[in-house]
Amino acid sequence: MSEQVILTETVDRVGVIRLNRPDAMNALNVDIMHAIVEASEAFQEDANIMAIVVTGNEKAFAAGADIKEMQTKPYIEMQQSDWFGHWNRFTAIRLPIIAAVNGYALGGGCELAMMADMIIAGPKSKFGQPEINLGVIPGMGGSQRLTRAIGKSKAMDLVLTGRMIDGEEAERAGLVARLVEDDKVLETAMEIAQTIASKSRPVVMAAKEGVNNAFETTLQQGLLFERRTFHSLFALEDQKEGMDAFSNKRQPEFKDR
Ligand code: CAA
Repeated sequence: MSEQVILTETVDRVGVIRLNRPDAMNALNVDIMHAIVEASEAFQEDANIMAIVVTGNEKAFAAGADIKEMQTKPYIEMQQSDWFGHWNRFTAIRLPIIAAVNGYALGGGCELAMMADMIIAGPKSKFGQPEINLGVIPGMGGSQRLTRAIGKSKAMDLVLTGRMIDGEEAERAGLVARLVEDDKVLETAMEIAQTIASKSRPVVMAAKEGVNNAFETTLQQGLLFERRTFHSLFALEDQKEGMDAFSNKRQPEFKDR
């Protein structure tokens, strides 16, 4: 039987994807990359699922793209297959995605974590873009998303030297949303996902779209998009329910419509 490169499970309304190539530090080969994208799409198709948690193991979230798989490839194959291009399907997922990071999140591993909507990590985690040591540059968004997340100076520091930063430095730099004890990382990510799962699915999707739009547009266009989206949510029963619940001092019961 072929190796199960990811393990998936559903916990209440949360879909969990665990990278499962422990012998290779969860290096992202073609199989695992496709498996992550397909599992995320399957979770999104399931109207019961509200959020996705992506995690690895104690040693590695993922130590990057699989160097051994790529090393002999000619330019034309990388270019014609648009290597890494399929990650656009992952970033098109409309459900919130939380990366629970223990151990190494390097190269493509750091980039996968940054494709998620927030990163939860422990002090022992290690983030970095070491591609420069391999004679290449980041290829899954590192030069772009890292710069937007932590600013030019620090992104240059990581991308040009290939040095790693630990979870504490990553949290100070704004890369990590919450720094928690190493053995509480997955638990915390699941708690956050469960909190999100108590909201309204279309509203959660709209909120994710709104924040992401800040990276794509001017302030005026972004504010208009936000305001029009806000207006449109008044078409939902869940808006009526949420505001009625507040006024009547009770918990809302959202119906995802
Ligand atoms: N690709 C392929 N195999 C990898 C790998 C990777 N990115 N990272 C680790 N492995 C393999 C190792 O080759 C080793 O395999 P063998 O047992 O068969 O030798 C196994 O995983 C365990 O790794 P180490 O023995 O190296 O473990 P360590 O604890 O000594 O070091 C590490 C851990 C610091 C993470 C080190 O493995 C390392 O530096 N890995 C490579 C990190 C890297 O350069 N990542 C960037 C990849 S390129 C990229 O990601 C491009 C992009 O933008 C998408």
